[in-house]
Amino acid sequence: MTSKIVVDRKEVCDIIDRWGKNPEYVIEMMQDIQESYRHLPRAAMQQIASATHTDMARLYHVATFYKAFSLQPRGEIPIQVCTGTACHVQGAQRVMDAFSRELDLRPGDTTEDLQFSLDGVRCLGCCSLAPVVAVGKKLQGGLDSAKVGKLLDRYRKKTPQEKETRDAQGND
Ligand code: FES
Repeated sequence: MTSKIVVDRKEVCDIIDRWGKNPEYVIEMMQDIQESYRHLPRAAMQQIASATHTDMARLYHVATFYKAFSLQPRGEIPIQVCTGTACHVQGAQRVMDAFSRELDLRPGDTTEDLQFSLDGVRCLGCCSLAPVVAVGKKLQGGLDSAKVGKLLDRYRKKTPQEKETRDAQGND
């Protein structure tokens, strides 16, 4: 079953008010919505359109133009595999394939529980550490495909029993 993100109308209203309901700031409103909901829910877009008297078509144009916006819910932990030249040479595709296998995801997709999303990106700016992956805000350099499962285990949600076992073993 796919998890759902429920839109809080009051929260969206507060965001719109923060920008003075000014149509010149619809991008800023959309950025705030994207940050809160990890995507742009249609209901929130409709609220912006109605409060700022902006056409929905214009909002969708903006939403699809900027890569920072997503119309589909993104994972709590975004995984970005660098596919730039330096990383490509150092086996970025094998690393990407390993994430795809582990998460059963194609690049651009999100896990059903909305925990992870997987994307390829161009150069994360630290080519000397190639191949590089950003997991959330953390950069991981020199990653090889064999280490991907172990890396993900650190981020995967644990059941209370798994947490207990892990704590008892003194792992972080
Ligand atoms: S090419 Fe991957 S960090 Fe620059």
